[in-house]
Amino acid sequence: MSYPKECVLKDCEEAAIRPLEEGDESLLTQFFETIPEDDRWCMRYDTTRPSVIKRWFENLASDNVFAIVAVCNNAIVGHGSLHTRGFGATKHVGRFRVIVLPEFRNKRLGTWILLDLIQAAMDKGLEALRADLIVGMEDAAIEAVRKFDFFKRAELKNYAVDPQGERHDMVVMVKRLHKGWSDF
Ligand SMILES: CC(C)(COP(=O)(O)OP(=O)(O)OC[C@H]1O[C@@H](n2cnc3c(N)ncnc32)[C@H](O)[C@@H]1OP(=O)(O)O)[C@@H](O)C(=O)NCCC(=O)NCCS
Repeated sequence: MSYPKECVLKDCEEAAIRPLEEGDESLLTQFFETIPEDDRWCMRYDTTRPSVIKRWFENLASDNVFAIVAVCNNAIVGHGSLHTRGFGATKHVGRFRVIVLPEFRNKRLGTWILLDLIQAAMDKGLEALRADLIVGMEDAAIEAVRKFDFFKRAELKNYAVDPQGERHDMVVMVKRLHKGWSDF
């Protein structure tokens, strides 16, 4: 893929998608500071901790993580990452996360980022993509991935807790990948 990639959003505003790069640390920190707690809660790490962001930048060259950001007016407004194992029984499966700044939601930015992560997964020769999403907390994402032919492969009842301690179901959404878009 060639970067930066200009993408036009629903309101005709433009954002540029490009890989996360050295020097983005403070922009990424500012981005996560403006993401609501409920959304950050669904992530695997506390992105308000400087040590978490620092570790991401130390791992920038890792073959197992591909991270992209969407930039608008010199600010990061969206982030996406594809995670692979590189070894073992699930090395053919990628996992991903996408997160968009609240004021940039519903403008197709999440779709642009997801498209790039799917393309990156296909380029890596992966056979499937998986996202574990929490019902009642990540419903927008569940709808968004359904549009890209992700199917519910499993449901874990009352598996997740929200910041208030309420239980939620978690769904395992999986998409089979093809070698190229023309194979769909
Ligand atoms: C999920 C998320 C990334 C979507 O980003 P976005 O830029 O708003 O997504 P898009 O505008 O491209 O919308 C794509 C589709 O998602 C669905 N969608 C988006 N927001 C929705 C909402 N609030 N409720 C229901 N469906 C919604 C729609 O089907 C939409 O397609 P449409 O515009 O053709 O109707 C964003 O809501 C977000 O950052 N949420 C918090 C973090 C999160 O849950 N991440 C998921 C981890 S993978």
